[in-house]
Amino acid sequence: MAQSTGRISVSRSSAALGAVISGVDLSVEPDAETFAVIHRALLDHCVIFFRDQEMTPEQHVAFARRFGPISIHPYAPALPGHPEVMRVFKEKDDKVNFGGGWHSDMTFLEKPPLGSILYAKEVPPVGGDTMFANQYLAYEALSSGMKRTVDGLSAVHSANAQYGVDGMSEANRHNDQRSMKPKTSEEAKAETIHPVVRTHPQSGRKALYVNIGFTQRFDGWTKDESRPLLRWLYEHCAKPEFTCRFVWTKNAVAFWDNRCTQHYALNDYHGHRREMHRVTIEGDRPR
Ligand code: SIN
Repeated sequence: MAQSTGRISVSRSSAALGAVISGVDLSVEPDAETFAVIHRALLDHCVIFFRDQEMTPEQHVAFARRFGPISIHPYAPALPGHPEVMRVFKEKDDKVNFGGGWHSDMTFLEKPPLGSILYAKEVPPVGGDTMFANQYLAYEALSSGMKRTVDGLSAVHSANAQYGVDGMSEANRHNDQRSMKPKTSEEAKAETIHPVVRTHPQSGRKALYVNIGFTQRFDGWTKDESRPLLRWLYEHCAKPEFTCRFVWTKNAVAFWDNRCTQHYALNDYHGHRREMHRVTIEGDRPR
């Protein structure tokens, strides 16, 4: 059922999460009412989608800034001349894409992003969809016993498995199979600790907060001890019932709340090019 506020309408796109917003032009500074509708929809639906937007990189950044300061990815390349805009692309002969596994963005930071706004510049004729998973639902579906267990845990996150200098990092294993080449760094070893269940600062709801991209182990546990429960949680977090799938069209926009979702960029469009621009908004320290 679509909710309409004046010219703006918000329609849920799947049972678990996601809504399409129409009647908004993201290239112009939203007035207070438009901003409030967009913000409310983000909190209610966890990821929101817009079609047919014409935005310059400056307008994209300006829209993101309404939600908070911009967070620049420490390892991924920016659009030339626009350090705040990450260029996510895969050339037609590349084998590996960026973001092709379930993750929340940059949870290796002390203050991981509030959200990201992804804008489709070039899309394949079919494929290249992005999946999203609702981490409130993932938490709420746990048994009371498992909730008690994970409620008391914290986990260590780092960027090392993705961007570390050792030969086994994702970047070192995959950069020769993709044109987009995130850099590797000694700094990727830095570790930060977050609760396994975080309370969203605005909705007050609890969400599972571990992801296979960046979570290393439970705090105070070894990697070996952590692996079985983490594996179980990763599988649980992405159950189809908690997900939606966005089929991109050129100039579509997805804006996800990184505090209560994970996402997965599908790599199923070999022989075609895909390019997206991403602007990411700083968040606060998970609690
Ligand atoms: C990302 O993880 O930010 C990339 C998502 C996508 O390209 O669909």
